[in-house]
Amino acid sequence: MRDRGTVPAWGKTFARGLLRWFARHGRDLPWRRTRDPYRILVSEVMLQQTQVPRVLDYYPRFLRRYPSVEALAAASPARVREAWDGLGYYARARNLHAAARAVVRERRGRFPRTREEAEGLPGVGRYTSGALLAFAFDEPVAALDTNGTRVLSRLFVARRSSSPSRTVARLEALAASLIPKGKGWAFNQALMDFGALVCTARSPRCGACPFRARCRAYARWQRGRLATRRSR
Ligand code: ADE
Repeated sequence: MRDRGTVPAWGKTFARGLLRWFARHGRDLPWRRTRDPYRILVSEVMLQQTQVPRVLDYYPRFLRRYPSVEALAAASPARVREAWDGLGYYARARNLHAAARAVVRERRGRFPRTREEAEGLPGVGRYTSGALLAFAFDEPVAALDTNGTRVLSRLFVARRSSSPSRTVARLEALAASLIPKGKGWAFNQALMDFGALVCTARSPRCGACPFRARCRAYARWQRGRLATRRSR
């Protein structure tokens, strides 16, 4: 779905501001130093349910043991399980292993470059397919995790849609429409960091937010505060 009608008037300003913010404050993380789809898939599967500091610990070790998709595909399930030990949610390891085997055996080692094909890999859902395409191939697709979803809802959404899945689809279309040309990688990484560092779930740092003046959630919060003060 690519609904151009949802593009807000200040979308371009937001995208530029976000990239500027990222250039100054973005985190230097090991999976941001590679464009290898295998290494990106490993990081994104780990990050699905594990916090960044813990992944920082396990990611290099896993890659030393399995430095390529071929190496992972050739491993035994028991050894992969062992390499995943400590990360939890072992279904992820099983799926990652199966995905590596599918890439090697069914695609001659070539990773998918479309969402549909990527989502055909075990354990790869909407978010991970977007991350793979944006981070490995710089495609202008949205990779909305909980952070990105929260940031865009707060900034742009006036009223929630009737169903959560409609909201997600609308936000994804919005995100895709906001990505500047050639900036699929940077825009998505930036949105994640902005959500992790500024527009956090609890106690967001609105004082440090360059978009505060345009933010719908901030405006609602201000109105709410004003109303409470008046009614005291
Ligand atoms: N969480 C999921 N993917 C991430 C990424 N690429 N960088 C930081 N946090 C993430």
